[in-house]
Amino acid sequence: MGRVLLPALASAVLAAGPAGAADVPANGPPGASSCTGCHAPSKLADSAIPRIAGRKAADIETFMREYRSGAWPSSVMGRIAKGFDDQQTQAIAAWFAAQPE
Ligand code: HEC
Repeated sequence: MGRVLLPALASAVLAAGPAGAADVPANGPPGASSCTGCHAPSKLADSAIPRIAGRKAADIETFMREYRSGAWPSSVMGRIAKGFDDQQTQAIAAWFAAQPE
């Protein structure tokens, strides 16, 4: 009995480990899901908030840097941009750029 249970337990532990990482491709990198609440990931959703899906990653990064420094006026983005460092912003920008326009 013990010989049967042990491998089962080990594989259950292994399966629990990388489960979180498997979510990344679908939802984008960490932080991206906090953007899509306002910036729809596709043009199917029509809203007053500028669409950033399909935009150039470099453009999105530039906006985020300017919002963070306050160089570019904003209502909410200044506060939001401050929550992400350059590396996180880069990953999020690349993900949005890869989404259908
Ligand atoms: C609470 C809603 C909200 C969230 C969350 C949000 N944004 Fe925004 N975003 C806006 C609004 C509104 C604007 C227009 C500028 C302003 O008023 O702040 C904007 C503007 C932008 C722009 C400039 C687009 C353009 O063409 O002018 C970029 C790029 C951007 N957001 C990226 C992001 C990223 C990346 C995230 C996630 C880290 C994010 N936003 C999260 C509401 C949001």
